[in-house]
Amino acid sequence: MFSVNLRGKVALVTGAGRGIGKAIAQGFSDCGAKVAVNDIDPQTAALTAGTLTGDGDAYVADVRDSAAVQRMIDQIMTDYGRLDILVNNAGVEPVASILEMTDEQWADALSTNLSAAFYTSRSAGRVMKTAGEGVIVNIASIAGHNIPIALRSGYVASKAGMIGFTRECAREFAAYGIRVNAVCPGVIETEMTAHLRQNEAQMKKWLDDIPQKRLGIPEDVVGTVLFLCSDAARYITGQALNVDGGKVML
Ligand SMILES: NC(=O)c1ccc[n+]([C@@H]2O[C@H](COP(=O)([O-])OP(=O)(O)OC[C@H]3O[C@@H](n4cnc5c(N)ncnc54)[C@H](O)[C@@H]3O)[C@@H](O)[C@H]2O)c1
Repeated sequence: MFSVNLRGKVALVTGAGRGIGKAIAQGFSDCGAKVAVNDIDPQTAALTAGTLTGDGDAYVADVRDSAAVQRMIDQIMTDYGRLDILVNNAGVEPVASILEMTDEQWADALSTNLSAAFYTSRSAGRVMKTAGEGVIVNIASIAGHNIPIALRSGYVASKAGMIGFTRECAREFAAYGIRVNAVCPGVIETEMTAHLRQNEAQMKKWLDDIPQKRLGIPEDVVGTVLFLCSDAARYITGQALNVDGGKVML
């Protein structure tokens, strides 16, 4: 696995109880960072924190709640005294046609996948501004790049919004020494995409469109996040980098 030196750094990963977030938390830990493992699910947050190779703790919070996000950042500062890296990874994918989608499903997609990144970036950005440095990585999706997915209007809208927010945040935060980038995964094997793998016809269709002819695994995303958080990426900000086996070529 690709490695960078993150010793002495503190990283917060949202939605790190399972899937891509869990792999990112483990990647940071393997590189020497202390990791604040956020999830709305106390059990999975504790499980991830318990399996880190280095220091880390679970921080249970609903990232849709700006007050809960502020409390979480305050607690991390009390516990570790710094926050160098923020990864906005928590996400949901409500499935419904536009005609059938409820207000709650739409609001859940927008608040979890987009508004939460604003709340965390605002709270963490104040800390990073004071420190004069910091890195934010937003986990968007190729769905935000003009790759619509059937029955996922809230998801697609939120991920396109996440890419736009990343650019604006990068522009504004550059003056404070904070870099902000997005990573746009293709189809990655997690619980979120388990339904795809159960449908042979749908799987074949996806694989036909992926030049590398395989789905990604969470570890495929980790190396990109580590790179973006490292000094090797010091002149990269405001970008949305696809990690998708070549499905999208912009
Ligand atoms: N799996 C894919 O193919 C894929 C592709 C592109 C982008 N993504 C994005 O990557 C991110 C992670 O996806 P995944 O596949 O690992 O999903 P997942 O469903 O396996 O994990 C998501 C995690 O987020 C947590 N979470 C959900 N709502 C939360 C909230 N309000 N507060 C705190 N935590 C919350 C969940 O409890 C869960 O642990 C998401 O943003 C997703 O949209 C995934």
